[in-house]
Amino acid sequence: MSKKPKHVAIIMDGNGRWATKQGKERFAGHNRGAKTVSKIVEHAAKEKIEYLTLFAFSTENWNRPAEEVNILMKLLVSSLRKQFSRLTENNIKLSSIGNLDLLPSIVKEELSYVKNKTKNNTGMVLTLALNYGGKEEIIDAVKTISDKVKNSIILPEKVDESTIIAHLYTRNLPPVDLLIRTSGEERISNFLLWHIAYAELYFTKTLWPDFTKEDLNIALSEYCKRERRFGKTSEQLN
Ligand code: FPP
Repeated sequence: MSKKPKHVAIIMDGNGRWATKQGKERFAGHNRGAKTVSKIVEHAAKEKIEYLTLFAFSTENWNRPAEEVNILMKLLVSSLRKQFSRLTENNIKLSSIGNLDLLPSIVKEELSYVKNKTKNNTGMVLTLALNYGGKEEIIDAVKTISDKVKNSIILPEKVDESTIIAHLYTRNLPPVDLLIRTSGEERISNFLLWHIAYAELYFTKTLWPDFTKEDLNIALSEYCKRERRFGKTSEQLN
C-alpha cells in the first residue's frame, strides 16, 4: 500500500465534449471546467495534498481557434480574480510553470499579483501549467546547461540527474506521484515528461466539468492500493 500522494497532477480534459453533450458552445464547457477547478483545488488542500499541478494551457493549445484561446485567457483572469481570496483562506500558494512570455499581459499581471499575495502561504502549492510543454521544458534546460558548459560553469562529466532537475521549470516541485487524466483519453500529451517518470497513472471516463470531490477521493484511494516498486521486487519492499 502506498501512502497518500505528495504531488498530484491533473490533465483536465473533456470540457468541449461536456458542452457538446449539453447542446452548448464549447466555452460553456470551459466555464463549467473552471468551477470544477476551484472545487477540486479546495478539496485537494483539505485532503492534505502538498502539491497540485493542473494542465491549464499547453503549448499546443495555441492551435485552437483564436476565439477559444481568447475565452480561455479571459477565464483564467476572471478565475484568478474570483478565487484569490479562497486561495488565501485555504493557505494555498499559487505558482506556475511554462513560458509565460507569450501570454497576454493581463494574464501575466493577474498571475503575478496572485502569486505575490499568496507567496507566504504554507499549505498546498497549486501550480498552473500555462503555455507549458514537456519537450520545451527539457529543451530549455538543455540550452541553459549547454551554455553553462560552454562558459565552464558546469563540467560536462558532472552533468547528472540533479543538474537536469535544477534547470527544469519544475525544479521546485517533487516528482509526480499520481497523474490523473479525465475524459477517457489515455495519453500524456506532452505534460511533465521528466517529473512523471515514476508516477502512477489514473484515467477516468468522467469529463472534467463533471469531476467531483468524490471522484478525486476515488483516484486517491486507487493510488493507495498501488504497489510502487521503483524497479525493486515486491519481496524487497516487504
Ligand atoms: C481540455 O478540454 C481543457 C483545456 C484545454 C483547458 C483547461 C481549462 C479549464 C479547465 C478552464 C479554466 C482553467 C483554470 C485554471 C481556471 P477540451 O477543450 O480539450 O475538451 P475536449 O477534448 O472535450 O474538446
